[in-house]
Amino acid sequence: MEAAFEALIDGLVEQQYGLSATCLQPALVQDLRMQLLTHFEQGDLMPAGIGNQGAFGRNLNIRNDVILWLEKEHNAAEKAFLEQIETFIEYLNRTCFTGINAYEFHYALYQKGHFYKRHKDQFDSDQGRLFSLVCYLNPGWTVDMGGALMLYPDQETIPVLPEGGLAVFFRSDEVEHEVQPANAPRLSIAGWLKRV
Ligand code: OGA
Ligand code: MN
Repeated sequence: MEAAFEALIDGLVEQQYGLSATCLQPALVQDLRMQLLTHFEQGDLMPAGIGNQGAFGRNLNIRNDVILWLEKEHNAAEKAFLEQIETFIEYLNRTCFTGINAYEFHYALYQKGHFYKRHKDQFDSDQGRLFSLVCYLNPGWTVDMGGALMLYPDQETIPVLPEGGLAVFFRSDEVEHEVQPANAPRLSIAGWLKRV
């Protein structure tokens, strides 16, 4: 586990983004995938807003995925995932003195043709989001399925396929990114480590 955490942190320090394929056990990825699909069938996922509070609004020209915030109380898979996040936060605070004291994570489902245009994750009005972490729930994803995460660290373009079990980590105020249109249902958990 610590090797996976180190890969995320080292990548962020050295190249502005970290990748790890071993943060989540394959069985947990599968359970989270099933839970997301169950929540979707129950009608629990809703269009995401853009911005926060007063600036909150939907703009389907910017993003058109549907989301649901994770809760430990929902089921064992979400509880296990969020406990793993807490372990990562403890590691990050201990080794990097980051002072993270809050987090929020949501499922996201992009259906065929859905996208999220280029953006940064930190709201202008609220600097609480320090780090972004996205975990993918799509075993066997291939290039022709679209839906790549495009990362734009300084002067670079890095495509990342949303393969099941892969985690991506970057600073919320630093790295612009976008989700290219998906050609197949694209399942993920995206979230933020915060200091509030
Ligand atoms: C986000 C986001 C990226 C992804 O939800 O803010 O940029 O790959 N997600 O799903
Ligand atoms: Mn984002």
